[in-house]
Amino acid sequence: MKGDKTGVSKWRAKSIEQLMAEKETSRHRLPRTLGALDLATLGIGAIIGTGIFVLTGVVSANYAGPGIVLSFVLAGIASGLAALIYAEMASMIPVAGSAYTFTYVSLGEILAWLVGWNLILEYIVSAGAVSIGWSSYLVDLLSAAGVTLPASITSSPFNGGVLNLPAALIVLLLTGLIITGAQHSATANKFVVTAKLAAILLFIGLGFRHIDPANWQPFLPFGAAGIVHGAAIVFFAYIGFDAVSTAAEEVKNPRRDLTIGIVASLITATVLYILVSLVLTGMVHYSTLNTASPVSAALLRVGLPWAAAAISVGALAGLTSVLLVVLYGQSRIFFAMARDGLLPPIFDWIHPRLRTPLWDSLLIGLVVAAIGAFLPISLVAELANIGTLSAFIAVSAGLLVLRAKRPDLPRPFRVPWVPLLPVLSMAMSAYLALNLPTLTMVRFVIWIVAGLLVYFAYGYKHSNLSGKSNPSFSLKLNMMKPVSKKLPPDPTKRD
Ligand code: ALA
Repeated sequence: MKGDKTGVSKWRAKSIEQLMAEKETSRHRLPRTLGALDLATLGIGAIIGTGIFVLTGVVSANYAGPGIVLSFVLAGIASGLAALIYAEMASMIPVAGSAYTFTYVSLGEILAWLVGWNLILEYIVSAGAVSIGWSSYLVDLLSAAGVTLPASITSSPFNGGVLNLPAALIVLLLTGLIITGAQHSATANKFVVTAKLAAILLFIGLGFRHIDPANWQPFLPFGAAGIVHGAAIVFFAYIGFDAVSTAAEEVKNPRRDLTIGIVASLITATVLYILVSLVLTGMVHYSTLNTASPVSAALLRVGLPWAAAAISVGALAGLTSVLLVVLYGQSRIFFAMARDGLLPPIFDWIHPRLRTPLWDSLLIGLVVAAIGAFLPISLVAELANIGTLSAFIAVSAGLLVLRAKRPDLPRPFRVPWVPLLPVLSMAMSAYLALNLPTLTMVRFVIWIVAGLLVYFAYGYKHSNLSGKSNPSFSLKLNMMKPVSKKLPPDPTKRD
């Protein structure tokens, strides 16, 4: 698993110095425009969405009862442990690509490819699920306002429709926004995140007064196993803080701001999830929550229709921001993988005027729009968690490897209690993954096999580390990406 510039072994890995040098000398570089607040907003934008607005109802009704609050605590602990590990890795290796990049420098190319391959699955699938949730909130809101959209254009062929047009349209719209520049996206994201947080705080504030403690009885109708099953599903609600690290290359002060962004966004989300699920199951009996819009349903039931409408607007805003960040994050992972030669070079091309990886965003947008238009939420939502959990396990293992192999590297943020904490993180992620449905596991294995086929058919031969085109990787880099060829000025950059 040593750094191998000759490309003899498929376990070849990059050294961190090599990675940083490659980034600094590459003309395929992204401009640094984001600060700590942008990152925390990006994180909250990515984290709080379908998990709390949609899945809470189904999980409390069918798996965990009021004990869903403990499911959120359990999934929050697993995510929190992983977040600390991401914070150390991201502040030490502030390069686009998130878990994929961390694995590249710690565990080697083939495992990095598999992590990146899983992140593709996770991001695309969860974005598809969120776009379908967005569409149903829109349909609800419009019908409350007296506008009924025909079912044929608001549901997939699996649900008796032709296509889910709102789901596809919102994805294409946001893809256009992302293509026009990261700073624009971050600014738009701030507005949306504010609306989402306002809606959640309004719900907590109003709902608190309508709590009837009798609704919390029985607290664990499905026993302790229900808490764990619930946690494996509501884990979806925490997916997204890793998107903060996908923006690493666009951060002004990555060593400080990445840690703040990751930790602050996750803590905010965890506190809000615990409060919302406590209030929700206290307002109405869990058995009545088997609905795709539990938050507004509970407000309607306690006689607050205006609040239900306001919260629906906030939910729409929330789902929009999740989509925005997930689409953005995925394009940056694609970009990093292409820059390493594991995907075709078209995907590490940056548009000279817009300064964004145009083809990555476009391809991802089209695929997610197709998923949103033609597939049912039940089918696409299942797979997202396992991709993330496997990435968490790989990053924790990577941290242990780097602590042992490279104790000398500067670590602006250090995870405490190593190796206990990373090992605990791996164990918790594995435990949650094992509590997912068997079909999810089967699909996951098929995806992995497909990934290995793609790697050996393309990435292995074309990787920058293959050493085939040039005697050394750095020579190849210098020849292909001359330092003198500077990017044009960034029209979106403020300072
Ligand atoms: N965590 C994100 C959500 O709940 C994916 O929608």
